[in-house]
Amino acid sequence: MENRKCELIVALDLPTLGEARSFLEKLDKATPYVKIGPRLYAMGGATFISEIVKKGYSLFLDLKLHDIPNTVASAVEPLSEMGLWALTLHTSGGYEMMSRAVAMRDRKGSTMNLFGITVLTSLGGNLWSEVHPGSDLDTSLEARALVAERAGLDGIVCSPLDLSILNGKAGKLARVVPGIRRTMALTEDQTRVATAVEAAAGGASYIVVGRPILEADDPIKEVKSILKELSEVK
Ligand code: C5P
Repeated sequence: MENRKCELIVALDLPTLGEARSFLEKLDKATPYVKIGPRLYAMGGATFISEIVKKGYSLFLDLKLHDIPNTVASAVEPLSEMGLWALTLHTSGGYEMMSRAVAMRDRKGSTMNLFGITVLTSLGGNLWSEVHPGSDLDTSLEARALVAERAGLDGIVCSPLDLSILNGKAGKLARVVPGIRRTMALTEDQTRVATAVEAAAGGASYIVVGRPILEADDPIKEVKSILKELSEVK
C-alpha cells in the first residue's frame, strides 16, 4: 500500500449482497477498507461479515449503536468476535455507554476499533436546531469528541467541516470523515460536505465514500483516482 496519511473507506451501500460481492471482486482490495451498514447487515448477518473478512478486507460495520449502556455492551460482546476492523456507536449515548462498549471489546480481546458518531453529516442547519433547540452544533460536537476520548474510543466520525473545529482537540482519536463529494454542489441528503483532498488536508485519518464511487460510470477507476489524490496530500 502506498504511504498515505489518509485512507479511503468505501461505503458498500448497495441494494443486494450479490452486488456487494461483485463490487468487492472488482475492487480487488485496491483499498482494503470497506464499510457495510444496517441494510447489508440485515440481509447477510454474521455469515456475510465472515465472508468479507475472509477475503482479507478490513470491514467496518456501521451500525451506529445508541441505547442504554447495558444493551450496547451486550451487542458489542458478539460483535467483538467477528473479526471486524471497526464498529460505530453514537457519542450522544454518553460516557457510560461508550466506556462500557470499550470495556466489553477489551474483555473479549478484540482489536476492533470503536468509532463514535459525533453529529451526522446530514444534520446541518435547521435539522440540527429542530431536535437540539437552544444548542449550538459546534459546541456539542466538541463536547462529544472530548467525552469519546475520555471513554477510550479509537476515533470519531465527523463531517469534513468539523475538522477545523476539532483541530488540536481530542487528539488521540482518529478522524473518520464521510460527506465527501467530487464538487461542492450540494446533493442528496449530505449537507456538510467537502472534497477528498480538502478532508485529507484538513486532518482526516480516513474518508468514507459511498455514492460518488458507486454511482460513477467506472467505480473502480473512481476508487483509484481518489487513492491517487489522497497519496498526493502532504
Ligand atoms: O454516499 P455517501 O458518500 O454520502 O455515503 C456516506 C456513508 O457514510 C453512508 O454509508 C453513511 O451511512 C455514512 N455516514 C455518514 N455520516 C455519518 C456517519 C456515517 O454519512 N456521520
